[in-house]
Amino acid sequence: MKPLIPPLTALLLSSTPLTLAKHIMIPNTSFASQSDFDTDWNYLYPWGSDHNGAARMAQSQATLSTDGVLTLTASRADNEPPASHGGQQIEIRYLSGAVHAKEHFNVAAGGGYDFSGEFRAPVARGTWPAFWLTAVEGWPPEVDMAEWKGSGKISFNTFNTSSEVRAVDVEYPSPDAWHSILCEVRDENGVDVSVKFSMDGQVVDTQFGKGFVGKPMYLIINLQMEGSSGSPGPDSDTLYQARNVEVWSYNPE
Ligand SMILES: *[C@@H]1O[C@H](CO)[C@@H](O)[C@H](O)[C@H]1NC(C)=O
Ligand SMILES: *[C@@H]1O[C@H](CO)[C@@H](O)[C@H](O)[C@H]1NC(C)=O
Repeated sequence: MKPLIPPLTALLLSSTPLTLAKHIMIPNTSFASQSDFDTDWNYLYPWGSDHNGAARMAQSQATLSTDGVLTLTASRADNEPPASHGGQQIEIRYLSGAVHAKEHFNVAAGGGYDFSGEFRAPVARGTWPAFWLTAVEGWPPEVDMAEWKGSGKISFNTFNTSSEVRAVDVEYPSPDAWHSILCEVRDENGVDVSVKFSMDGQVVDTQFGKGFVGKPMYLIINLQMEGSSGSPGPDSDTLYQARNVEVWSYNPE
């Protein structure tokens, strides 16, 4: 009689665990050179040059320096035709800078992302810099991983649904200094996501996005002006800087 040989190979294969490999999507060197930038980022908003404030974005207003810093500069511009947003005409009073990641970010069941970076952001009235995620199709999702709305504070917001937003404003010390932001986005239950916000290594808030799992999002860094940050904005140039921006994926592979 032949000995009974268990199908070992099959057993091993079927017990291979789901890999939750952490892998890098955008390295912290993506602003170090034009070719590094071009690998991961495009200029403007994903939908073009205009959004919901008084600035029109132009490629010339986003510059890189050899120490790996992205600088967005808002400058007064007096002869721009108005923008239209949500059926309204918006006067354009600035040219400014925006960049967006080439990749879309789509939280998978069991997965998520870490978005982080260091920022020097203006807080004067009429300046509205942001580091944020927004829906590729429909809306929400939207997560404002950091935005500064001309009040001197920093805001962290998630549109749980289109009518329910949790918005947390906190003190923003020494705006001329670099501050680090970390936003940990995770699947909660196969449908909703949790969003944990930290500034300078301290957890600030945890928020929720209903039904965000499986919904692709854009990643945008932009310097919008006026709009939600008040008016009038400054007459002199305003700078918003970012460095060491990094995205890690925790989605199952
Ligand atoms: C940039 O990323 C590399 C590789 O993960 C890491 O070793 C380095 O500490 C990071 N630098 C900063 C300033 O975060
Ligand atoms: C937001 O959505 C989550 C998940 O659906 C839910 O648990 C939570 O109560 C909602 N409300 C707020 C204010 O976060």
